Amino acid sequence: MQTKRQPLVAGNWKMNGNAELAAQMQAVLSEAELSNVDVLVCPPMPYLHHFIGAGFNVGGQNLSEFESGAHTGEVAGRMLKEAGCSHVIVGHSERRTDNGESNTLVADKVASALDQGLVPVLCVGEPESIREEGSFFEFVAAQIDAVVEKVGIANFAHIVIAYEPVWAIGTGKTASPEQAQDVHAFIRSHLAKMNSEIAEKIQILYGGSVKAANAGELFSQTDVDGGLIGGASLDPQDFLKICLAAKE
Ligand code: PGA
Repeated sequence: MQTKRQPLVAGNWKMNGNAELAAQMQAVLSEAELSNVDVLVCPPMPYLHHFIGAGFNVGGQNLSEFESGAHTGEVAGRMLKEAGCSHVIVGHSERRTDNGESNTLVADKVASALDQGLVPVLCVGEPESIREEGSFFEFVAAQIDAVVEKVGIANFAHIVIAYEPVWAIGTGKTASPEQAQDVHAFIRSHLAKMNSEIAEKIQILYGGSVKAANAGELFSQTDVDGGLIGGASLDPQDFLKICLAAKE
């Protein structure tokens, strides 16, 4: 029997927005009736405080693998936790590409987040060349296995996975609902080989050009439990529509 998983819609602002947008978004989300969906906002760090205590989840976009020390420009998980965050995005493809984050480093960061009681939103997903070659299941499995190896499968009870095919991020080229469902079902079955209960309960989000217009169809897929939204999370009304689409 399938467990009913609560959907989660997460907004990843990346390095966008300003204090005015933060205030608008906070106001729009606070007034909305969002009881059957978990909402998470991940703004740049200077804007976190606008969202803390407003009744929804707030997350960082990255954390250091270290607890403290001489790492100029980095932020530790315990600092995000202290600031009021519940989640943190880990291993986003932009960080894997721009900052050379390897599967091993991503696994270390997931461990660091878990140590601090933050829920890591672990991003996985294949680049276009791997999609064309056809080895995307193996590619995504290797990204997940690196984390399983580091933190153990039991910890996936405290992890959210976001499947974000790199070719769909910020390109307007959304994966079709069938393409998303295929990979989500694969991820769940891959985890089920290690622990079926955790596999059934884990939230697996889809990310990559999700908009108000396509969210409903994507979220209606059996193994799609919500989304990680980039561009469309910068418009309060669009983001709200996407959150509401997950509720239905
Ligand atoms: P996008 O970004 O919605 O702008 O494609 C998604 C993401 O990178 O998390």
